[in-house]
Amino acid sequence: MTLRNDRLLKALLGEQVDVTPVWMMRQAGRYLPEYRNTRKQAGDFLSLCKSPQLACEVTMQPLRRYPFDAAILFSDILTIPDAMGQGLYFSEGEGPKFRNVIRTAADVEQLPEVNIADELSYVTDAVSVIRKELNGSVPLIGFSGSPWTLATYMIEGGGSKDFRIAKQFMYDNPEAMHLLLDKLASAVTDYLNAQILAGAQAVQIFDTWGGILSSRAYQNFSLVYMNKIITNLKKENEGRQVPVILFTKNGGQWLESIADSGCQAVGLDWTTEIGDARSRIGDRVALQGNMDPSILYASPAVIREEVATILQSFGQGNGHVFNLGHGITPEVNPDNVAHFVEAVHELSQPYHN
Ligand code: CP3
Repeated sequence: MTLRNDRLLKALLGEQVDVTPVWMMRQAGRYLPEYRNTRKQAGDFLSLCKSPQLACEVTMQPLRRYPFDAAILFSDILTIPDAMGQGLYFSEGEGPKFRNVIRTAADVEQLPEVNIADELSYVTDAVSVIRKELNGSVPLIGFSGSPWTLATYMIEGGGSKDFRIAKQFMYDNPEAMHLLLDKLASAVTDYLNAQILAGAQAVQIFDTWGGILSSRAYQNFSLVYMNKIITNLKKENEGRQVPVILFTKNGGQWLESIADSGCQAVGLDWTTEIGDARSRIGDRVALQGNMDPSILYASPAVIREEVATILQSFGQGNGHVFNLGHGITPEVNPDNVAHFVEAVHELSQPYHN
């Protein structure tokens, strides 16, 4: 099937585009009243993820409102630990929690291998349903968490402010930690390949918590496992390259080694100046980002000004995918998203002559 808007796929590969493509992390989410309605209909967040029809519905919702250049699969990174038997649940206002946690080397050894086709078919089914619904309008992005980020949730038993338990486990039991990360890397590889085969046209690895590590620990406990995953991903499907975006939040100081991971694009949070990032890594890989999500609380004029500044900082040429530096927050006024997307498309034109 031909893709009517393939700006995202081209920009991820550094190819010529007419305007800078734009999408938003968490573009399907609680800032949209229609999302909150569908979640209510599903009962809770996890039931929403596990219903391919409803996951498709919420994936499409932002695209009906705004001319985004990509859809992102609606799911969660914690589906893998859930499939490993950890018993994921979401308690209102508290974020994700696990009934079973990993606290010893024996826990890691007993962790089962995930059979994606059995345990996570609801995700690949959602990918197929969404592709059908998109009908060639824009590409679909699949995703997974990084092994390190998944491991933090599995060990802590949920989110954390200081990652005390996960870090203690890493320092006290490095071998068990490596075994856990290895098991996760293999599950993530199978998971992303299954999403690609089902129709994901690009994939993003979310290393949300890589940035809490020391440089050495980041290399040894996060980046090496992402390298390994990227090496083993299916490179092409449906006659097109499947680009990989690697997003390490707070990874700005390691951009050079992230760019060497084999990914096609590096996701930037808002703490790095995108023009500096580009001069450091050149056009070796594309850059995705990186407006502070909080700018969306400001007025349309301020949003437009910030978009203009980021476009100017990146400068002339291709290889930029516009995004926020992290997910959109629930309190944002949906009208401001329309101003954001419009500003990117309008103001980026002169940079692509
Ligand atoms: O970007 C998209 O639109 C796709 C959907 C998506 C969700 N989670 C939906 C979601 C994606 C890509 C994720 C990834 C994810 N999940 C990450 C990595 C990205 C990041 O934000 O750093 C992480 C760390 C998780 C784990 C997770 N899931 C947390 C910490 C929470 C609670 C967050 C909060 O703000 O309450 C979730 C729940 C979640 N995942 C929601 C959504 C829309 C909110 C759930 C709800 O509707 O109540």
